[in-house]
Amino acid sequence: MSKIIVIGSSNTDLIAKVETFPKAGETIKGVSYLQTMGGKGANQALAAHRLGGEVKFISCLGKDPNGLNAMSYYRKEGLDASLSLVVEDTPSGVALIWVDKKGENSIVIIPGANDKLSSDYILQIEKEIVEADLILLQMEIPYDTVKTVCGIAYKNNKRVLLNVAPARKLDRELIKMIDILVVNETEAETIAEEGIAHIGEEKIMDKLLNLGAKTVVLTLGKKGSIVKNDQLNLRVPAFTVETVDTTAAGDTFCGALAAELSKGHNWNEALEFASAAAAICVTKMGAQPSIPTETDVRRFLKMKTTNH
Ligand code: RIB
Repeated sequence: MSKIIVIGSSNTDLIAKVETFPKAGETIKGVSYLQTMGGKGANQALAAHRLGGEVKFISCLGKDPNGLNAMSYYRKEGLDASLSLVVEDTPSGVALIWVDKKGENSIVIIPGANDKLSSDYILQIEKEIVEADLILLQMEIPYDTVKTVCGIAYKNNKRVLLNVAPARKLDRELIKMIDILVVNETEAETIAEEGIAHIGEEKIMDKLLNLGAKTVVLTLGKKGSIVKNDQLNLRVPAFTVETVDTTAAGDTFCGALAAELSKGHNWNEALEFASAAAAICVTKMGAQPSIPTETDVRRFLKMKTTNH
């Protein structure tokens, strides 16, 4: 099995379940409240770990109760986050999340220490990147840091999976260093500067490939996902489940994809596995509490095959 390193954010998620999102100037009564661990980096690292990958997670936390709590939680989960940076002067990242009755969310992140995960620190731990086989990144740490990691990976022929979440534009130099670009519709449109409604899914993926990514994975929610590169064009349907909370579904998908690819599975198997993991994730509240284990996903896939 190849080694995965995830470099990204860690947040404490403060989640309010509501009937409908509040409007500007409105005070509403929520349905329930939950505080759990989150952050796109941490969610993807934990997903890859629970789903059978060999994972190291590198993040930046404050020396505060949320940071200490995060470290002890990762230890309990058996996720190696020991190389994470701890800073004295900045609080750990938090996310304020509303989840409505349809399971859709609305998230505000206060990055705090996540913004202190610097290129300087990455250079200090360069050896870890060189020793990994697959590097998993998102966009909740500084852009320059993501670029520094990609540069090291590229120089050393390491595979990079970049999930462009939250959505932002990427420069060509960065895209050319990416092996697997994982995007949802909004993220694809932001990078390609085109609307899917206007040019279609295939053409937007071609545009991202032309910008330099070697493989593009487009996630389409209930419509499944597509993977495309110069040898492959494959669509995998999503599983139908009852949605409670979509938070971290994309993160679970990315972590699962990385884990499954690191075990040597082909694209078809990896995408089906990742779709199943994301489907299980949306049936529960919260980011990390809803990330399934490998056993959960294999059982789910078996059940779905038997039902067909
Ligand atoms: O993708 C979901 C995550 O986004 C949440 O856990 C929250 O912390 C934000 O980073």
